[in-house]
Amino acid sequence: MCSIIGYYGIDTAAPILVKGLKRMEYRGYDSVGVATKSEDRINLKKGVGKVSEVNNTEQLDKLPGTIGIGHTRWATHGKVTDKNAHPHPSNSGRIAIVHNGIIENFSELKKILEKKNYTFKSETDSEVIANLLQMHYDEKSDVKESLIETLRDLKGHYAFVAMFEDGTLAAARFHEPLIIGVGKESYFLSSDVLGFIEQTDDAIYVDNGDFVLIDSAGLQICNFDGTPVKKQITKVSKEFADAYKGDYAHFTLKEISEQPDTIIKAGENTIEAIEQATDYIKHAKNVYITGSGTSYNAALVAKYLMSKYAKIKLEPIISSELPFSPDSIEPNSILIAISQSGESADVLEAVNIAKKSGAKIISIVNLLTSSLVQESSVVIGMNCGPEIGVAATKSFTSQLGIIYKVTEKICAGCIGVDFEKISALIAKILSSHSKIMEVAKQLKDVSDIYILGRGIHYPIASEAALKLKELTYIHAEGIPGGELKHGPLALMDSNVFVVIINPNDSTYNDTITSAREIKARGAKIIGISDKKSDVYDYWIEIPTIEESMFPIIEIIPIQLLAYYSALEKETDPDYPRNLAKSVTVK
Ligand code: G6P
Repeated sequence: MCSIIGYYGIDTAAPILVKGLKRMEYRGYDSVGVATKSEDRINLKKGVGKVSEVNNTEQLDKLPGTIGIGHTRWATHGKVTDKNAHPHPSNSGRIAIVHNGIIENFSELKKILEKKNYTFKSETDSEVIANLLQMHYDEKSDVKESLIETLRDLKGHYAFVAMFEDGTLAAARFHEPLIIGVGKESYFLSSDVLGFIEQTDDAIYVDNGDFVLIDSAGLQICNFDGTPVKKQITKVSKEFADAYKGDYAHFTLKEISEQPDTIIKAGENTIEAIEQATDYIKHAKNVYITGSGTSYNAALVAKYLMSKYAKIKLEPIISSELPFSPDSIEPNSILIAISQSGESADVLEAVNIAKKSGAKIISIVNLLTSSLVQESSVVIGMNCGPEIGVAATKSFTSQLGIIYKVTEKICAGCIGVDFEKISALIAKILSSHSKIMEVAKQLKDVSDIYILGRGIHYPIASEAALKLKELTYIHAEGIPGGELKHGPLALMDSNVFVVIINPNDSTYNDTITSAREIKARGAKIIGISDKKSDVYDYWIEIPTIEESMFPIIEIIPIQLLAYYSALEKETDPDYPRNLAKSVTVK
């Protein structure tokens, strides 16, 4: 996943583009580049590294001109090199493009172009777009015609912006996001409203299968066959402008710290949808639940809760596994799809498959303008504001909040969830960082961490392992407590740390026994519990609450532990290596 941006206006483009790219860096951040148009030529600079690093060395923001395009990359085709960074110029240098997505037929297209003597400087799939546009432009001498021809040739998922040397910007959207920002005397093209929110809150969401042309005559939007379409300007919610770190050192810490507030807000922007979802689930023959990464861990909590309290069986399916699942989705089913971004390709594919079997989709999603929303019959909003840190934190507890709210509705209040109380307890945990910082110091040189939990705490152990992997690059694995003796015990020795998720509830005694077995093999134990025990080498205290509610609060100290361990290891908690916030490619 990458971010693309374009600017057409009266101000100098490059600093605006660089600012926008910085705000979209969560989408991909291994390399960056900018191209601008001045005096009928295209200037282009790019390099490997984060936006600020490359800007320092290449002075991207000093390029002249009032029209330009930019890109941050998350490598898919071709290594992380200067050459593979975008923008890519066409052979003549008269067109430059930035692209997000995958061109599936790029090798066939490349062969066709090579036969016509086009050469390629990068290993990317994207470069074919630049040369295809050039080939058609040389034939047709018309930007719109050459764009239509190019779109006929391309197969795959893409959003791209092309800048022609006369200054025309041409962009197209096919299963990757593209939004137009409309300023007073300017236009923006961007993967995310964050790319232009500082300049304007007027936006046009480009539909799938539409293209955009911006030139001195203004803005034109057409579908892929060239028929003009009319689109409304929408006001973008001001909350998106909120994506600043403020006084926090990192977005991740800011987002962890927002949870006393976001847990209360979960689903509050879509109250009716919660009612509707409840009704659908109650009357469905089969209910499946899917997601990727953190969102899948939330689905595992849902299975447990719904089964125990609402007496409804949910089948959790990892989104990327659904295409290979031997059992098809039964007719008249419900698929609950959980996705912060609403753009994860695996989730969208799972939804597509389920819809083909006649399933209705209930989505739990943060970005209400996302592709998942378009595919859903019922949409419940996480309502937690923009999450920039690549590792999901506040969106996870918001997902849990919604799952609890829906379960509670189905079982007519049988859990007795008190979100005000949970909010206060999260705030309490957040205010006692010092113990967690001390434990984080111990993890600096550790190579393996295991996280153990039973019952409803096992999904939290999985999520804890994911957070530790993403933020610290330490090998981490979640283990269902009872499975310890069926294998993982062989790994326990004095080099290992084990986090025991062990609130004083029905799982406590069994888990403390597991902890003793581990300790006897020399491993160090970190206990996350409301009850002290001599088995813990380090005790991270959490407040006492009803058993069903522990998952929401016990993940908080682990998020902090992963964050502070990242600081100890000097990794970048906001932008872990090799990852991207939402993976919009398969
Ligand atoms: C990526 C991110 C994970 C996230 C997963 C699902 O892998 O790195 O942090 O949990 O996508 O994202 P979604 O937006 O679908 O919840």
